Amino acid sequence: MTNPSLLILPGDGIGPEVMAEVRKVIDWYGTRGVTFDVSEDLVGGAAYDVHGTPLHDDTMAKAQEVDAVLLGAVGGPKYDVLDFSVKPERGLLRLRKEMDLFANLRPAQCFDALADFSSLKKDVVAGLDIMIIRELTSGVYFGEPRGIHREGNERVGINTQRYTESEIARVARAAFELARKRGNKVCSMEKANVMESGILWRDVVTEVHAAEYPDVELSHMYADAGAMQLTRWPKQFDVIVTDNLFGDLLSDLAAMLTGSLGMLPSASLGLPMANGRPKALYEPVHGSAPDIAGQGKANPIACILSFAMALRYSFDMGAEATRLEKAVEDVLADGLRTADLLGEEGVTPVSTAAMGDAIVAKLSASV
Ligand code: IPM
Ligand code: MG
Repeated sequence: MTNPSLLILPGDGIGPEVMAEVRKVIDWYGTRGVTFDVSEDLVGGAAYDVHGTPLHDDTMAKAQEVDAVLLGAVGGPKYDVLDFSVKPERGLLRLRKEMDLFANLRPAQCFDALADFSSLKKDVVAGLDIMIIRELTSGVYFGEPRGIHREGNERVGINTQRYTESEIARVARAAFELARKRGNKVCSMEKANVMESGILWRDVVTEVHAAEYPDVELSHMYADAGAMQLTRWPKQFDVIVTDNLFGDLLSDLAAMLTGSLGMLPSASLGLPMANGRPKALYEPVHGSAPDIAGQGKANPIACILSFAMALRYSFDMGAEATRLEKAVEDVLADGLRTADLLGEEGVTPVSTAAMGDAIVAKLSASV
């Protein structure tokens, strides 16, 4: 048996800092005989600085070969002046598109220790456990035509929202499959009241449901109403399935319900490879946070929990994923907080590195 392979792409801003803490976790698993073949490469602005492109072809090729990619974050003000085609974000979007990672799983879970920290009332968020499944390889992010061109004496900016039936059906299946392992409920969100692509979305989700998943409870909501309901009473949801752009917005909203963007992991999954594992990329939902980069203020938990998702969805190590999630929960219960989570009484401020060390210590204590 060969070791599972991981490509680590720390990226920009706080990406390398939070990834350093994930490396500690990976090393801890190594000491327990669970060894990963880890390679590391550049993405985003860091890749642009060296190669003049936010994702080198060799890196893209490596990403296609490994069992899973773990990415930190991309972007920063330094790169704002770059041409759109070589902006850091293009590197990430190319990975998603070429690996065909159509199902983006974004769980929003509220840890008990942080329930007071949310901007919403404690009873609204305590025990929250929802999963947003965002379509990630199509829609307005990739639709053609697109661009900025001149019409008469002014410029026009164009993007196209476009979905095929098969693109909708496959992400709907991913949502129904996942719901069966959770609360067995799916809410599909679009804007069928104003967009034809939304009408098709609703039709196809309804058809897939009737034909293949009648046992799962399905509801539909307009995405704007969905945003409202997410802040009003988020616990009404189990799995939410939605398109690329609405999913981008709704997942930031859902993340904030839990107190901090620094807590939320994600998995982007594609079709199974020859070895049966899905094409996969794991990354925190948060961005590169250039304003706090290099100061030990970043919260490594989102990135560490992204590795936990890799254990669960790529490596079939659900029990180890649960162990790691429990270690995070225990550290929070002890009152350890990175800078994004300060403000409550009686908590202990810790640096990025100290948070990583504490999580590894909990892992060691768990065996
Ligand atoms: C996300 C991010 C990305 C997106 C950016 C960095 C391109 O906001 O993963 O949610 O818009 O998809
Ligand atoms: Mg986003």
